[in-house]
Amino acid sequence: MEDITMKNPQILLARRPQGAPVPEDFRLVESPMPEPGEGEVLVRHRFLSLDPYQRGRMDDAKSYAAPVALGGVMECQAVGQVAASRDSRFREGDWVLGGFGWQGFSVRPGKALIPIDPAEAPPSTALGVLGMPGLTAWVGLEDIGQPKAGETLVVSAASGAVGQVAGQLGKLRGARVVGIAGGAAKGAFVRDTLGFDAAIDHRGDLDAQLDAACPAGIDVYWENVGGEVQAAVFPRLNDFGRMVMCGMIAQYNTAAGAAATGAMPGPNLGPVVRKRLRIQGFIVSDTGWRRYGAFRAEMLGHLREGRLHWKEDVAQGLAAAPQAFIGMLAGRNFGKQVVAVE
Ligand SMILES: NC(=O)c1ccc[n+]([C@@H]2O[C@H](COP(=O)([O-])OP(=O)(O)OC[C@H]3O[C@@H](n4cnc5c(N)ncnc54)[C@H](OP(=O)(O)O)[C@@H]3O)[C@@H](O)[C@H]2O)c1
Repeated sequence: MEDITMKNPQILLARRPQGAPVPEDFRLVESPMPEPGEGEVLVRHRFLSLDPYQRGRMDDAKSYAAPVALGGVMECQAVGQVAASRDSRFREGDWVLGGFGWQGFSVRPGKALIPIDPAEAPPSTALGVLGMPGLTAWVGLEDIGQPKAGETLVVSAASGAVGQVAGQLGKLRGARVVGIAGGAAKGAFVRDTLGFDAAIDHRGDLDAQLDAACPAGIDVYWENVGGEVQAAVFPRLNDFGRMVMCGMIAQYNTAAGAAATGAMPGPNLGPVVRKRLRIQGFIVSDTGWRRYGAFRAEMLGHLREGRLHWKEDVAQGLAAAPQAFIGMLAGRNFGKQVVAVE
C-alpha cells in the first residue's frame, strides 16, 4: 500500500502550443494522492507512452478525439503496478495497462484495466512492439499495404515505434523493404539490426537515394511523415501501388496554420487514376483492438523465435516527459519513446 501522505506528480497542459510545443506549454504539479473506491484500483505508473497523436490533443481543433482541456492532465497510455485494490480481480503488484495520463498514479475502475504478464515480455513492450504502435503497423499492412513477396515496401520514420514493426512485418511477408530514417545511426539500426534491405537518410538527396534503393519502383509506401519525403516517394509508386496513410508528423506542428491559409503542400494527384493507386488513411482504434488477439498471437510467435526486434528510447523521470515529447516530434528519439516514472 502506498503512503497516503505521498503526493501525485502530474503534468498538465498549461497552454495550447503555437507551432512546435515548448516546455512552458506544460506544468508539473503535485496533487493529492487519489484513493480507490469500491471496484477501483490505485495504479503506480512505471512507464508512460509518448506518441505523436498527443500533439493533436494539445490543439483545440476538430479531430477524431477530443482535445485535452486546458489545465488537464496530458493523455497517454501507460503501464503500471497495482498499489492498492478494491477490485477482487487485482492484487498489489499486478502489472496493468490503461489510459493513465502523464502522472505518477491514477485510480481507475478495475474493469478499465488490461492485465499484463511480465513473464511474456518486458512490461514496457505493451506500449510499443506489443501495444498500440505495433498493432498500428499490423493493421495497416493487413488492411491496406498488403505487401506481397518480391514487392518493394518503403517505410518512413523507419526506426520509430510504428516504422520498426511495419518494416519487419513487411520482410516477414516477403517484401523487399527500404527504410527512411534521419541520420546514419538510425539507418544502420534499420539495416543491420532490423534486417531491412536498404536505408535512406531523409536529410540527404532523397531522389538519388530512392532511385538507388528502389530500382523496380515502389509498390507500397508506409506514410508516417508527409512533406518532402512524401513528395519524393509519390512519383515512384508503381501501377496498383498502395499508400498506407498512417500519419504525417512533419506537418503536426504547422497543420492548423497551414490548413487555415490553404498553404499545405501536396503532390499532384493526377497519377492516382492512371496508376490505379490506393491511398487510404486509418486510425488503429477503428478495428485494431477487436483484432488484438490475432495480432498478439503473431507477434509473440515472432518474438519467441527471435524474428522480431524492437528498440525503446527511455527518458528518466516524469519531469523529463515534456522534453522527451518535444524531442520526439523533432526526431531526437531513437526507437519507441517511453518515460520511466521514478
Ligand atoms: N493512424 C494511426 O492509428 C496511428 C497510430 C500510431 C501512430 N501513428 C503515426 O505514425 C507515425 C509514427 O509514430 P511513432 O509513434 O512510430 O513515432 P516515432 O516514429 O517513434 O517518432 C517520430 C519520428 O518521426 C520522424 N520525424 C519527425 N519529424 C520529421 C520530419 N519533419 N521529416 C521526417 N521525419 C520526421 C523522426 O524520425 P527520423 O529521425 O527518422 O526522421 C521521429 O523519430 C506518426 O505520424 C504517428 O502520428 C498513426
